[in-house]
Amino acid sequence: MSDLSDFSGDVASYLADQEKKSLLRFLTCGSVDDGKSTLIGRLLYDTRLIFEDQLAALERDSNKHGTNGKDIDFALLVDGLESEREQGITIDVAYRFFTTSRRKFIVADTPGHEEYTRNMATGASTADLAVVLVDSRQGILRQTRRHSFISSLLGIRHIVLAINKIDLMDYSHDVYSRIVADYLQFAKNLGFESITPIPMSARFGDNVTTPSQHMAWYSGPTLLEHLETVPIASDLLQKPFRMPVQLVSRPNLNFRGFSGEVASGTVAVGDEVVVAKSGQSSKVEQIVTMDGSLTSAEAGQAVTLVLADEIEVSRGNILVAPDSRPALADQFQAKIIWFDSTAMIPGRSYILRTEVDSTSATITALKYQVNVNSFSHEAAKTLVMNEIGICNVSTQSSIVFDAYKDNRTTGNFILIDRLSNATVAAGMIDFPLRRAQNVQWQAVEVNKKAHAEIKAQKPAVLWFTGLSGAGKSTIANELEKILYAKGKHTYLLDGDNIRHGLCRDLGFTAEDRVENIRRIAEVAKLMTDAGLIVLVSLISPFRSERRLAREMMDEGEFIEIFVDTPIEVCSGRDPKGLYKRAMAGQIANFTGVTSPYEVPENPEIHLETNGSDPFELATRIDEYLLGIQNKD
Ligand code: ADX
Repeated sequence: MSDLSDFSGDVASYLADQEKKSLLRFLTCGSVDDGKSTLIGRLLYDTRLIFEDQLAALERDSNKHGTNGKDIDFALLVDGLESEREQGITIDVAYRFFTTSRRKFIVADTPGHEEYTRNMATGASTADLAVVLVDSRQGILRQTRRHSFISSLLGIRHIVLAINKIDLMDYSHDVYSRIVADYLQFAKNLGFESITPIPMSARFGDNVTTPSQHMAWYSGPTLLEHLETVPIASDLLQKPFRMPVQLVSRPNLNFRGFSGEVASGTVAVGDEVVVAKSGQSSKVEQIVTMDGSLTSAEAGQAVTLVLADEIEVSRGNILVAPDSRPALADQFQAKIIWFDSTAMIPGRSYILRTEVDSTSATITALKYQVNVNSFSHEAAKTLVMNEIGICNVSTQSSIVFDAYKDNRTTGNFILIDRLSNATVAAGMIDFPLRRAQNVQWQAVEVNKKAHAEIKAQKPAVLWFTGLSGAGKSTIANELEKILYAKGKHTYLLDGDNIRHGLCRDLGFTAEDRVENIRRIAEVAKLMTDAGLIVLVSLISPFRSERRLAREMMDEGEFIEIFVDTPIEVCSGRDPKGLYKRAMAGQIANFTGVTSPYEVPENPEIHLETNGSDPFELATRIDEYLLGIQNKD
């Protein structure tokens, strides 16, 4: 196994050989107790020792020849990690590199703990193989099933079942056979291409990098041997051509190139390519790389394509093969792995990011949750940390994608929370929803501008938020009278009233409130299209949905008014007797008592109501409105 075998003293040819070696990306799954750290430690130790000898030799040699072998070599090994970084996921996954004479390796060392699923999903998204560790004394555990299931969801094709600590079971063939049988039974429908069981003792080194002296009954490979030889010939080359455009480079007027990494398939000079979103097409005139021009390029290569025609390809679009295009849709079904400690809320707006797109998205339906132990489908209203669900997702603008099973690069996405900016979930797209393709926008001729002009006003949404009993409706009512008296066209959408009709089916759970606010925001938007000044009086306790409502309206149209009345005052007033009942435990999820109210951070208008007259407060809003209505 010694790496020095292929080192003949010639630095340049040695490095060239390194470059030719294939790269295996893998991850290890298991908890600390299963011996994961020991295993990785041993692999690194046994291989790096050799590697460092090599480096020392290289360095000596480099000094002689006046180049710096060490630097170049590390670049060589670190190479290929760009895409993880570019996805912008900040996660606690350590990537470690090692090399042997046959292959280069990147192992994603995903720490255990609670956030395991998050780390695993990140580490696994590009991995070819997973080493699933099992403690011989324990056999297959819930964790083993979870990790294997997630590996299969993420498209990992090869599994090594590392049956560790076999020394503690007297190197027993029976124990090994039983665990293997259990695992094969469990994993038979997970679609792995290979499952390779290896009995080992990471602690003593049995079957990790050297064959064990204690298990004559085992004739299979050591872990390292298997990692060095498992076939990973990528099927990416056979897939249709896809190249996400990372950069439009235009160093001078005569040159305009589109740079990116070929994600799948091949492309050659003269090929026709299509811009996935617009459908515009052109021919490849030139393929430029750092090392000169090429006649063709394939998956994994970073290139700049020069096209024959001037077509619009902004960054964040994909160039594709004309005869096999990806889907372009704003609704699709996906598998979602939830990692955040805050539960998923159907209807809430998250930021969805794919390799090339970023847009607002909501989970419109959680169809079911998958039980990772039994694989049964279970009804669910939400997903909490580490749960997996099948969902319908709706995006604000159409995105380009493939099914994840066809292409891991163009079929995956992450969801980001708008307020915390945390990555809360990973998704794998199944297929576009047909209904999305059957509903189109109908053009109207009497448009928003015309509606507003005939009313001689600028549409606006005055969004009153605050606790129950804060005085929202009273102030909104006063304001509507003032506006009406001036001949303005208004409408007051009051939470209590709407809950008698449009939102009669909704209660006060977080999901129901999100839906309540979404519907009212949609109605308010339609009313602004009709040219109205809309007053919305709604507790709307969550920042996220208030932001969603804001983003639905045109720039400057949404005016958030925080009706700030301390809870003691609201509960003292208690006009409907609700606080009393909430505190007595008779009403569940009562805002400010048993359900949160998230105070606005930057409202356009902040009304501290205590001691003020509602008419006077309404006048202040009217003055603000006059200021913006008279602008331009
Ligand atoms: S929101 O949270 O979804 O925005 P909305 O403004 O529509 O609430 O409705 C709040 C009104 O419903 C309150 O003014 C109050 O009269 C009544 N209500 C009944 N139960 C609750 C509850 N659990 N929490 C808050 N308000 C409640």
